[in-house]
Amino acid sequence: MSETTYEYSPGLAGVPCAKSSVCYLDGSIGKLQYRGYPIEALAESCTYEEVAHLLLIGELPKAAELAAFDALLRKARAVPATVLGTLKSLPATTHPMTALSIGVSSLAAHIHGDHQKSAAFRRDAAIQLVAKLPTIVAAWERVRSGKEPISPNSALAHAANFLYMLDGKEPDALVAHTMDVALVLHAEHQMNASTFAARVTGSTLADPSTTMASAIGALSGPLHGGANEEVLKMIATIPASSPDTIRAWAEDRLAKKAKISGFGHREYKVKDPRASILQNLSMQVFAKFGATPDYGMATELEKQMATLTGAKGVYPNVDFYSGILYSKLGIATDLFTPIFAIARISGWLAHWLEQLEDNRIFRPNQIWTGSADRNVTQLAAR
Ligand code: ACO
Repeated sequence: MSETTYEYSPGLAGVPCAKSSVCYLDGSIGKLQYRGYPIEALAESCTYEEVAHLLLIGELPKAAELAAFDALLRKARAVPATVLGTLKSLPATTHPMTALSIGVSSLAAHIHGDHQKSAAFRRDAAIQLVAKLPTIVAAWERVRSGKEPISPNSALAHAANFLYMLDGKEPDALVAHTMDVALVLHAEHQMNASTFAARVTGSTLADPSTTMASAIGALSGPLHGGANEEVLKMIATIPASSPDTIRAWAEDRLAKKAKISGFGHREYKVKDPRASILQNLSMQVFAKFGATPDYGMATELEKQMATLTGAKGVYPNVDFYSGILYSKLGIATDLFTPIFAIARISGWLAHWLEQLEDNRIFRPNQIWTGSADRNVTQLAAR
């Protein structure tokens, strides 16, 4: 049996799977850019709506373009009653990522058109999905606590409206700004697992909602978006806040070959620039609303880890500080990853649009490790 030999890269590390102009990343120096704009400048100067326009349409909008784009987003926020009905039929114990995945899959019954031939429909579907994701997440948060979903408030911007739909209160300006920046920071990140999942599903010409549900599934795992939830649970297991205790805890975990959540990244060999921006944002939130003990533990763990794993290039990633920040904003731990999805949907859709511009179905190969040409013995004789 002849077999072509392929070079095998576990986890496809270093293997290009697409040509893309969405996001540039040089993890050796912590450089991250969306369509050529540095993440630091986008976080400083642009709203999530501007960044979504940049990712989906390709350019930062002029004022009139932003007004038109934002109006479409605000108009598209409500989700069909049948989607809310589907959420209401789920057990209250359903994880919000599962509820989000089900909610987005059910949008496939409502967002339909010719995504294969019509660029106008693809753009409209993308706007619908960006607009509706926060509504589904907030609706599930209400439904699982036995409350009615809150309708979107078209007077509020994207991030502020999401917070409003959680509890019906217009958020404090700093809290709304913090959520907006967090969405900007999580909006896109090159060829990560969930983006790859979106591209693979999109390459089969599946519809846009189903393609996004596929990406949401990939994001849900603890090695990817789920890590921000794990960070808080992990910090709670550190027995005390002294540097010696934290170091001993980390050494013990490393000796057992257990991963430390919120650290490490396939691409970054230095601290993730998004973690630094989130840390600065956290300082503003703590200055206004008071610090949390988790933050002190986290900064000490970062310090200890620098001497324990720094030589391997294992530093904090974006998930390390996001959970601590969200928790201070009063957000439930299991909503952290859905918030990641609310942000990342713009990036996933930008890759979906790009994939369909020049599509070829993904169909990789394998390194065969099994037996071949075996004889089947009849059941009675085995
Ligand atoms: N804690 C301790 N050691 C680590 C960690 C960590 N978090 N991450 C990597 N390392 C070590 C590995 O043990 C390995 O060491 P070795 O060479 O001595 O065996 C080396 O660094 C390389 O690690 P890999 O697991 O091979 O790196 P990979 O690129 O496959 O995985 C990943 C990257 C999954 C992010 C990994 O770092 C990890 O599991 N981190 C914890 C989970 C996490 O925070 N995920 C969020 C990532 S960001 C995001 O998805 C938004």
